[in-house]
Amino acid sequence: MDDFSDRIIDWQRRHGRHTLPWQNTHDPYRIWLSEIMLQQTQVATVIPYYERFLQRFPTIVDLARAPEEDVMALWAGLGYYSRARNLHACARRVDTEWNGRFPPDAAAIAELPGIGRSTAAAIAAFAYGERSPILDGNVKRVFARYFGIEGDPTKRPVEMRMWALAETHLPPPGPDAADAMRSYTQGLMDLGATLCTRGNPDCGVCPVRAGCVALREARQHELPTPRER
Ligand code: ADE
Repeated sequence: MDDFSDRIIDWQRRHGRHTLPWQNTHDPYRIWLSEIMLQQTQVATVIPYYERFLQRFPTIVDLARAPEEDVMALWAGLGYYSRARNLHACARRVDTEWNGRFPPDAAAIAELPGIGRSTAAAIAAFAYGERSPILDGNVKRVFARYFGIEGDPTKRPVEMRMWALAETHLPPPGPDAADAMRSYTQGLMDLGATLCTRGNPDCGVCPVRAGCVALREARQHELPTPRER
């Protein structure tokens, strides 16, 4: 039993969002599409684009076989257009190399164009309930504060320590692990985005305040250590 993951899971189940369009499915295509769109874009902006993509491309094979210009036209307005080009490239790889079936685990997903380790883990957690940790910018901030990790988290050695902590503090294996992983992964993302913010952390209502090193030492505003410049 891990206090950290239990508290995050409980908080997500009580206070988190459960009705976003990509939360009502375990379809890896739909989850992948949502995660790529959500990388640099707010939820409210993503929703209509997500719905239009699924209407136009009901399966990943439909997306793979569409002309590039159709994909780019449907993406227009979302920004960061390399995401759309990588999206199309991914779909083509899944069509040709995986016979149109999305890769079955985080390691294989991370081999697709433009998908990093954390995004691959998020997709595998939401789609398959896989026990694979995420570590994006928001999660690094949560870990730096909770565990009191010093040093710039964009630097390799600090990032490696955080990946190790992320592995250690996953919900335990067992019959409920898949559900736990879905709630935990979403909860960690939501905690970093809504409570454990950079400038104004809302520690009074944080589900993990009891164990937080930064809160105990009143160093929320010193952690994570800023990038050297
Ligand atoms: N940003 C990236 N992935 C997300 C998700 N699953 N929910 C909310 N925001 C996100």
